[in-house]
Amino acid sequence: MKLGIVILAAGTGTRMKSRLPKVLHELGGTPLLGHVIEVARSLQPNRIAVVYGHGGAAVPNAFAAEDLLWVLQDQQLGTGHAVQQAMSAVADVDKVLVLYGDVPLIRGKSLQRLIDTCSGSPLGVMTLNLDQPEGYGRIQRDGAGRVVRIVEQKDADAEQQAIKEINTGIMLIERAHLQRWLPALSAENAQGEYYLTDIVATAVAEGIEVQTSQPADRVEAEGVNDRLQLAELERALQQRQAQELMRCGVTLADPARFDLRGTLQTGMDVYLDVNVIIEGRVLLGDNVRVGANTLLRNVEVGDNVSIRENCVIEDAVIGEHSIIGPFARLRPGAHLRGEAHIGNFVEIKNSVIGLGSKVNHLSYIGDTQMGAGVNIGAGTITCNYDGANKHRTEIGNRAFIGSNSALVAPVAIGQGATIGAGSVINKDAPEEKLTLSRSPQVTLEAWKRPIKE
Ligand code: UD1
Ligand code: CA
Repeated sequence: MKLGIVILAAGTGTRMKSRLPKVLHELGGTPLLGHVIEVARSLQPNRIAVVYGHGGAAVPNAFAAEDLLWVLQDQQLGTGHAVQQAMSAVADVDKVLVLYGDVPLIRGKSLQRLIDTCSGSPLGVMTLNLDQPEGYGRIQRDGAGRVVRIVEQKDADAEQQAIKEINTGIMLIERAHLQRWLPALSAENAQGEYYLTDIVATAVAEGIEVQTSQPADRVEAEGVNDRLQLAELERALQQRQAQELMRCGVTLADPARFDLRGTLQTGMDVYLDVNVIIEGRVLLGDNVRVGANTLLRNVEVGDNVSIRENCVIEDAVIGEHSIIGPFARLRPGAHLRGEAHIGNFVEIKNSVIGLGSKVNHLSYIGDTQMGAGVNIGAGTITCNYDGANKHRTEIGNRAFIGSNSALVAPVAIGQGATIGAGSVINKDAPEEKLTLSRSPQVTLEAWKRPIKE
C-alpha cells in the first residue's frame, strides 16, 4: 500500500493571540508542526504534503526539508477544501492519511493501528470517547453500531450533542474515493465551510462500512487552540519523555520537575536532580550526576562527571571525571579534556582545559589553550579582548597562576611557570620560573591615622 500523508496546518490560530503562526509555537523545544512531521516520517510514507496558509512562507521556511511537499491554501475554507488543495501532491498513492499540524502528541503506534484496522475499508476515522465532548465533531452511529455520519458541534442538535464519541480529525481514506468525494462537498452548514467530515455520510450512502480506531492515550488526540492547551500538552510531553528516560534507567529526582527540549542520550546510572533543563542534543555518560537548576544545551558529558547545582552549560564538551560548579558557566567552545575542576562563578568560553586542570573560583577563561595539571588561582582573568579584536592565551602544562592575575592576550605562559598573585602579565612568561608584576610592598614608618577634629 502506497501511503500519502496530508498534514493540515493552514488555520489561523486566532486564540493563540500571537504574531507567530500557531503551528510554529513550540512544545518541548520543537514547533507543533515539527512533532507531526516527525511522526509522519516514522510511518515511512511515499509522500508527505503540508497544507499551509496563515502565516505564509514562515511555516515552510521553518522546515527546510526535501521530503516535504508544501501546498498553499490561500483562503481557509475548511478542512475538506484544505485536503483538496493537496490532492495533486499525493497523486500517486493508494491511501491518504490526514493529520493536523496542531495535534502534536499523536503516536506512530496509534496511527499504525488505524492503518491496520482499515486495511479492508476505504475509510477509517480515529475517534475518542470524551466525558466532555464539547467543541468536537460527534460520531453518529446507527442501532447496529455502524458509523453513519460526523456532525460538527455547531450543526448538532441536542441529541447529537450528547454523543461522547468524537472525531479526532485523523482519517485514512482511499485516494480514489477521496478524489470523487471532495469536489462534491458543500459549504451549506453552520460555519459555511467545506467539511472533510462530510465524506463519512457520503461513504455510508455508497454502502461503505467506515472503520474506527482509538489512540492509546487521550492526549494523543488533543489539539492546541490556545496557550492554556499548549501548556497542558507541554506537561504531557514532558511526562511522556520523563517516563521513557526512567524506563531507560535514568533517575529523576522528580519527573514533574524535569524539562527536555531536544534529545537526551544517557549511559548507565545517570542522576538528574530537580529543575534540570536539557536543550538541543545532550549526551551524558555513565554515572553522570546533574545538580538542581542546571541548564545543559548541546553538551557532551563523559563518564563519572558531576555537574553541581545552578550551572549553565552550552555547546561544550566535558571529559570524564570532571567536577563542575556550583554556579559555573561553560559557554560555546569550552572543551574540558577530563578530570577538570571548574568551580563557582567561573566562566569558560572557546577554550581547551587540559587533563586535571583546575579553575576553582571567580575566573574568566576565554580563547585559551590550557595544558594539563594547571592550577588557576581565584580571580584570574584572561584579557582576550582589546576593544577591537580577540586574542589567544596559551598556558603550558603544570603552570600555576596566582590569584587575581590578569593575563593580557596574546600571551603565553610556559610549562611549569608560576605567576605571582596580583600580576598583570602582558609578556610571555618563561617555563619553570616565577614571574610576577607587582609594585613592591612598602611600610611608612612615620604615617599616623588622621584624628577626628
Ligand atoms: C475539526 C473537525 C472536527 C474534529 C476536530 C478535532 C472538520 C470539519 N471538523 O474541527 O470534527 O472533532 O477537528 O480537533 O474537519 N485547517 C486548514 N485549513 C482550513 C481549515 C482548517 O488547514 O481551511 C486545519 C487547521 O489548521 C487545523 C485543522 O485543519 O490544523 C482543523 O481545523 P479546525 O478549524 O481547528 O477544525 P475544528 O473546527 O476544530
Ligand atoms: Ca480545532
